[in-house]
Amino acid sequence: RSAKLTDPERRPGSLKGFVNEMRMVAMKLHTKDQAKEGMQEKSTLPITEWKPKQSDFVQFLADSLHVYEYFEEELMVADSPHPEYARFADTGLERVASLKTDLAYLASLGNPTPPPTAAATKYVDYLKSLEAKPEAVICHWYNYYFAHTAGGRMIGRKMQDQLFEGRELAFYMWEEDVSDILNRVRGVIDEVAGDWPRDVKDDCLEETGLSFAYSGTVLSNLAK
Ligand code: HEM
Repeated sequence: RSAKLTDPERRPGSLKGFVNEMRMVAMKLHTKDQAKEGMQEKSTLPITEWKPKQSDFVQFLADSLHVYEYFEEELMVADSPHPEYARFADTGLERVASLKTDLAYLASLGNPTPPPTAAATKYVDYLKSLEAKPEAVICHWYNYYFAHTAGGRMIGRKMQDQLFEGRELAFYMWEEDVSDILNRVRGVIDEVAGDWPRDVKDDCLEETGLSFAYSGTVLSNLAK
């Protein structure tokens, strides 16, 4: 028997690398109606029943912008004092510019950009409290950016159809095939986390619940 099979520090999915462990923890936190790997009870209002107005969608974009700006302009910057954060600058997943494009378009339709709600400001306040804990920040970054490329894109298609006659919004477009970007970024996460001791990896995985809780409040702008 290989030593690995009896290693008490082994976690689900860990043989395939750390980002795979992060994904397994995240998938279990989905509700059963959100994703087939989801383990949580069905949502009270599944996305098939969401009927937000354009103004709710603008608020969702404004809240998203507040969070993405913090990640892209304060945390994951090339000259960050934390070398781990610099590895996540300019990955191709950045969303600030695309959100500004969409918000300008919506303003031209008569929906001016509102200030962020407490959902977004509280999330950023929480992220500020984590700045010196790369393992926790990277968990939030992974979940926030990867969620947007998965469930976020499904929601985007629905919103484009319901509210914009199918017009494609920039928030849901990337300059490269997004699966190529994700694969590259998975490699970066595995490199950055590769030599973290088990307890640091576990601290990172443990942030997943809070990442769902905070992004869920931003998303709840649409769940109506
Ligand atoms: C992946 C749906 C909310 C984090 C996925 C997948 C689906 C999905 C269908 C793809 C599973 C696959 O690979 O086949 C949804 C829906 C949501 C939602 C419908 C809300 C209505 C969230 C939230 C988070 C999150 C709030 C965390 C902040 C992730 C992550 C992945 C994922 C990290 C893995 C992405 C990857 O491996 O590329 N989601 N999700 N999701 N979701 Fe969600």
